[in-house]
Amino acid sequence: MSEQAQINVMEQLVSLCKRRGFVYPASEIYGGLNGFWDYGPLGVLLKNNIRDSWWRSMVEVPPIGPDGHPVDMVGLDSAIIQNPKTWVASGHVGGFSDPMVDDRETKQRYRADHLVCAIAKVKRKNGDVQELGFLAVLDGDRAVNDFVKRADKLARKTGGGEIQPPERSELTLFTKLDPERQKQVWGPEATQAGTLTEPRAFNLMFQTYVGAIQDETSKAYLRPETAQGQFLNFKNIVDTTRVKIPFGVAQIGKSFRNEVTPRNFIFRSREFEQMEMEWFCHPDEARKWYDFWKEERMKWWKSLGVRDENLRFRDHDADELSHYSKMTVDIEYKYPFTAPDFGELEGIAHRGCYDLTQHQTHSGQKLDYFDQELQLKLKEQGASADEIKQKSRYIPNVIEPASGLTRAVLVVLCEAYRRDPNRQGSVEYLSIKPQFAPIKCGIFPLVNKEGMPEVSEKLYLDLRKHFTCEHDVKQSIGKRYARMDEIGTPFCVTIDGETMKDQTLTVRERDAMTQERVSLDKIKGYLLERLSAE
Ligand code: GAP
Repeated sequence: MSEQAQINVMEQLVSLCKRRGFVYPASEIYGGLNGFWDYGPLGVLLKNNIRDSWWRSMVEVPPIGPDGHPVDMVGLDSAIIQNPKTWVASGHVGGFSDPMVDDRETKQRYRADHLVCAIAKVKRKNGDVQELGFLAVLDGDRAVNDFVKRADKLARKTGGGEIQPPERSELTLFTKLDPERQKQVWGPEATQAGTLTEPRAFNLMFQTYVGAIQDETSKAYLRPETAQGQFLNFKNIVDTTRVKIPFGVAQIGKSFRNEVTPRNFIFRSREFEQMEMEWFCHPDEARKWYDFWKEERMKWWKSLGVRDENLRFRDHDADELSHYSKMTVDIEYKYPFTAPDFGELEGIAHRGCYDLTQHQTHSGQKLDYFDQELQLKLKEQGASADEIKQKSRYIPNVIEPASGLTRAVLVVLCEAYRRDPNRQGSVEYLSIKPQFAPIKCGIFPLVNKEGMPEVSEKLYLDLRKHFTCEHDVKQSIGKRYARMDEIGTPFCVTIDGETMKDQTLTVRERDAMTQERVSLDKIKGYLLERLSAE
């Protein structure tokens, strides 16, 4: 797909989402608020379907482990605001920041680690090669193109010539330049050099106050990840449930990050939802479980209907690992705005014993685990009393698959978005896998008379007990089909003149637009079977 076509897909998708009630800009009547979105009537249905699938695959029907038995998993819903010491212990107060630069001239703000720079060189007509300056552009797949465009614009102002495109490897991250060099850079939209400020660490946590007095002692934070709730409740869960190591604690909920540059629709927002699972295991088994969850998580993304070629794994390099991580692999998706490159969808991190150790130190509470099974095993193996004592108590390691629910909504929408100029009514439709479609079935009388609406309403009242349906009696049948296609409804049933005679109706399938006749008394079973097909 061409670069232009990719950009348009996003524009068209955002517009469809607004027009049909999936996602609206938050507080739009007041001009919106950058980085905040509202999920409309269809968006919330889609999001809930994805959320339920994750919860089911993690908590209700967790996968079969390497030993052939289902793994142990429990759920949690912890508070968004916790004791602020939580975030000191987790490292977020000290280190959860992005480097930020401001452009004094254009008033634009950038993530310093999202800017890449190189010296722009132009070959003048007389063959002389001249340096135009040290230019910065936004990092990404189009960085070299953008760089050449910018350099060309500058060159034209001073007599023109041919720009010598830098190699991708010649573009240096702004954050890696020495401070003197940083002062010479032309910001991405600046008309002169040296207008970018020095990078400053910008903490991403939203602050608030708890109680009536607003001072340092009442300061608290909106959680930037759901994960810490699992660590804070580790002891509670071990003491009050029957789980034994290895086991997982799964949680879905809102997280908040004051992102420097929220962008790409709901990809990076300031309020979003996460689906995170913390898997507590013996340190010697951590690598085995890391590999296990890596594969399980990829399977789940595919179960949403995401095509293999749009997903990939990417291991983090040592210098990009988070402060808590021993190793991390991302599951990445080929978003329309990253294609042909990929962007992050989920991270699977080996957190070692970092979190429990930190909370143990900061809270003064013991967070180690007594492994009775290991104790018995060591006894059977004839280990010494000292060895048994020392080895059967330990701080578990944690493997964490952490994904974004709102990002999953974006992926399902990107994956489903189709354009077919030959379709009647609307060229756009959403090929969402039936299980995840917000509305499963549209029910229409062909005309709003001759007894048809009565039959269709009766059918609607029955079917809606089993899955989400919409009963629509207005407009031409073509327009009603087109609307259902645009919102990803996999099936439409139409009551027509024939129905009144022989008790059959038309079922239309969204993608192939095929129609078949099914008898009224069989339609429920027919649809239930197709809606549950894998
Ligand atoms: N507990 C680990 C953690 O939070 P993360 O990589 O920062 O790791 C996990 O976040 C996932 O949450 C990401 O892979 C992404 O899907 C989602 N996510 C993170 N920041 C987000 C944002 N600003 N907007 C939307 N989703 C976000």
